[in-house]
Amino acid sequence: MKEKTLFQLNGTSSQLVVEVGDFAEILHWGKKISGSLESFRQSLYRPIPHGRLDNDVAMTTLPELGRGVFSSPGLEGHRDGHHWAPVFFLKNVEKSGDILSLTSEDQRAGLSLLTEICLDEFDVVKTRHTLINTKSGKYFVNRFANSMPLPARTTELMTFHGRWAREFQTQRQPLLHNGYQQENRRGRTSHEHYPAMVCGTANFSEIQGEVWGFHFAWSGNHRLRADVKTDGRRMMQAEVIYFPGEISLEKGESISTPWLYASYSENGLNQMSHHFHDHVRESVLADDFKNKPRPVHLNTWEGIYFDHEPEYIMEMASQAAELGVERFIIDDGWFKGRNDDTAALGDWFLDELKYPNGLLPIVEHVNQLGMEFGLWFEPEMINKNSDLYRAHPDWLLAVDGYEQPTGRHQYVIDLQNDDAFNFLYERLDYFLSAYNIGYIKWDMNREIVQPAHDGVASGCKQTERYYQLVDKIRAKFPHVSIESCAGGGGRIDYEILKRTDRFWASDNNDALERQGIQRGMSYFFPPEVMGSHIGADKCHCTRRRHSIEFRGVTALFGHMGIELDPVKEDGEEKAHFARYVALHKQLRSLLHTGTMWRTPTDDPAHQVLSVVSEDQSQAVVMVTQSAMPTHSLSGNLRILGLDSNSTYRIYILDKPKNYNDIVVFQPPWSKEGCELSGEWCKEVGLSMPILDPETAILIKAEKIS
Ligand code: GLA
Repeated sequence: MKEKTLFQLNGTSSQLVVEVGDFAEILHWGKKISGSLESFRQSLYRPIPHGRLDNDVAMTTLPELGRGVFSSPGLEGHRDGHHWAPVFFLKNVEKSGDILSLTSEDQRAGLSLLTEICLDEFDVVKTRHTLINTKSGKYFVNRFANSMPLPARTTELMTFHGRWAREFQTQRQPLLHNGYQQENRRGRTSHEHYPAMVCGTANFSEIQGEVWGFHFAWSGNHRLRADVKTDGRRMMQAEVIYFPGEISLEKGESISTPWLYASYSENGLNQMSHHFHDHVRESVLADDFKNKPRPVHLNTWEGIYFDHEPEYIMEMASQAAELGVERFIIDDGWFKGRNDDTAALGDWFLDELKYPNGLLPIVEHVNQLGMEFGLWFEPEMINKNSDLYRAHPDWLLAVDGYEQPTGRHQYVIDLQNDDAFNFLYERLDYFLSAYNIGYIKWDMNREIVQPAHDGVASGCKQTERYYQLVDKIRAKFPHVSIESCAGGGGRIDYEILKRTDRFWASDNNDALERQGIQRGMSYFFPPEVMGSHIGADKCHCTRRRHSIEFRGVTALFGHMGIELDPVKEDGEEKAHFARYVALHKQLRSLLHTGTMWRTPTDDPAHQVLSVVSEDQSQAVVMVTQSAMPTHSLSGNLRILGLDSNSTYRIYILDKPKNYNDIVVFQPPWSKEGCELSGEWCKEVGLSMPILDPETAILIKAEKIS
């Protein structure tokens, strides 16, 4: 038995205390405490109750069945049916700055394990394991999970659900006996099972309660679990779902889990989001794009769909430039034979029938107008009706002999096939080299069924090869911005964000739906990575109509764009687009660097979202009336995050056309503005104006003293 030592990792307000002896166990992860580590240890020795194993069973950093952990173990695997319950003993511990690295071994099983745990200044924990087969003969890995302990007082969960066009919906549930599990087998991060969850003390809210938030950085199949052991201890687990036989390690080979990101907040969900947003800004986003203002988009998809005519597209570009647009993107429909969604995926050659003079005149026109040019690709996909499939029917990601269901009439390309991988790289390389392209929208429009390479399951490897393809493009074209899109928000996670810069949050541009989707996304992502476009007045997804003011204010709070055909819009509507584009540019640096607050409201029919500048000198607040106000008076609007001791001028920046006509009198502050202390704004607030359902107002707070 090795002597036990305590290690401490410190964030700004949180702390991890890890006991290391024969194995490692996280004893405390929560509020940062001062005092002697040894006294902490004394206080935490557990009793041994009757009716259980005779010894204390630790929840090690990789829970092991062989030590007597009866809940979900961290590793399940075998070597021809042997060594199926390994027990690891620590061999080496290194602490360097914020990072604790633990090397353990099970000599009998011939396995070595590296566990890395980091806690940064933003209070974000990052952890992963790496398993190495050190003995001859294949070691099959069935499961390999990241685990983090939760205190017994975490009795409530917030998890995510969704669907295409309705991503990032949240649900609350008690965390009682047995716990909670979610599984994603759709082959991408998925709209349905966004890989994150929040565990907290009872009734945790945006501003109150302790919460432990988790994000699993992986763009494929996964399982998340909040486990309540029968002895009352709790833990969170996150893992890739491996298909049978998918992972086998030869001697010397290794496999790593994805990174699990986690953060503790003692002040509810807003503070948790601040930690994650700061971490994403500092450590996840690529340096090349960090300090560049994000250009306002015009994307052609909902404007023209597959109907491409170069002269017309150039006119769209000219009109986009007049609106203040800074990046013009040709979406789907530009490549050979792509006239609808049944054909041509894989044929990444310009459609010369549609573009007889090539792409160059359009790219040059766009650039001359002062805009960047962007292009849509869906590299991993193939239609059977394509030249590529006719030439390479064996490039499908499939199990021979089975007819796979299609998704949007398409199939997936096996990226482990080097010829296919190289072909896709060459095609992307060609376009990025031949034209002045500043951005690509990288789409992925179907789920993956039966992924296999040479008959062996390859869900995990397909995801890894996808990362490699993006990395290879990124390495050669570091200044090309990449958006991750998968039928809207089907591939949104931190691992893909390391190699992309923006997400298409949803195919749904309905402002009311977007309010919910964008709010859900804001728990783990800062606004600047969220593509958010003004769509047509009658939404293509929901067939619902919204005023330009509601659409404009909603789109402001992300990386803004326009998703329609400006040529078909009337002058008045266009004047509004130009106004919101200008407003976004004016507020962009505040929105994209500030601190976001989801503010509790007195009436659930309201949603309030604000962003406060880092120096607390200004804030912008969006107040949304999502449904009919519950009462005739809606209480007060509070503004969080301002400096308590400073005075701010508060005034309305944007409001619905009929703002003054729907009541006898709106609150006077909303007409004349008013001056209030940051403390008053937070504790008392301002009288809430009366709004029609599905409208919003925008408020500005500026520090005057
Ligand atoms: C997906 C995307 C859309 C658009 C289409 C093109 O659905 O989410 O924005 O690019 O594909 O086919």
